[in-house]
Amino acid sequence: MSQKPLKIAVLVSGSGSNLQVMIDAMKSGNLAIDIVGVISNREDAYAIIRAKDAGIPVSVLSHVPNGRRMGINTFEKYALQQIQDWSPDLVVLAGFMRVLSAQFINNMPCTMINLHPSLLPYYKGLDTHQRVLRSGDKYHGCSIHVVTPKLDAGQVLTQAWLAVDVLDTPKSLAKRVQTLEHRLVPYTLDMMIKKVIDIDTIRVGRMNGMIPLPLKFWMDNE
Ligand code: GRF
Repeated sequence: MSQKPLKIAVLVSGSGSNLQVMIDAMKSGNLAIDIVGVISNREDAYAIIRAKDAGIPVSVLSHVPNGRRMGINTFEKYALQQIQDWSPDLVVLAGFMRVLSAQFINNMPCTMINLHPSLLPYYKGLDTHQRVLRSGDKYHGCSIHVVTPKLDAGQVLTQAWLAVDVLDTPKSLAKRVQTLEHRLVPYTLDMMIKKVIDIDTIRVGRMNGMIPLPLKFWMDNE
């Protein structure tokens, strides 16, 4: 029996390599997903080209920090309208670099998840690779978590780990973590499609206790 694909809207600000991984998985049929639209808050994001090349609807809602082009409130108003129009089952923040308001998050009609380059709850916020190196941590990685009004603090769903090398720099760590992200994103979506992670349940925050989360740990040399 053919399964209804998981409808996904993706918010981006930059290169969109994680978006590309989702596009490739959709096109190859490896994941039963339908990327119904992409929103970028930057008009120069390479992710826009990736989405357009794949024939995915793109909404560019460009805003700058001083609000000259479009303030964050206006951005959120149009973004929410657009998401409501696309009516996805899931919103994925994949390299979306703006902090969203509690109102926007609470009004989201479906579950929203974020990809974060650290082993949450450690290193919320920016410059995670530098901070990991400065602290002399042995391990680093990335997390996918539910977006809640508290920054990077929602339920962690999945994580991928790597061992920090003595020769690592912020740049090398960023590259190694991104390689992990490219595995973690499709893995997490697959868990949602298979209902191992129930996106409706995590929305209301009742996931804990059903299965131990985060769901998966692995090292990059596995
Ligand atoms: C990723 O490294 C993610 O962890 C961070 O932004 C980056 C996005 O990369 N939040 P890309 O735009 O998917 O290439």
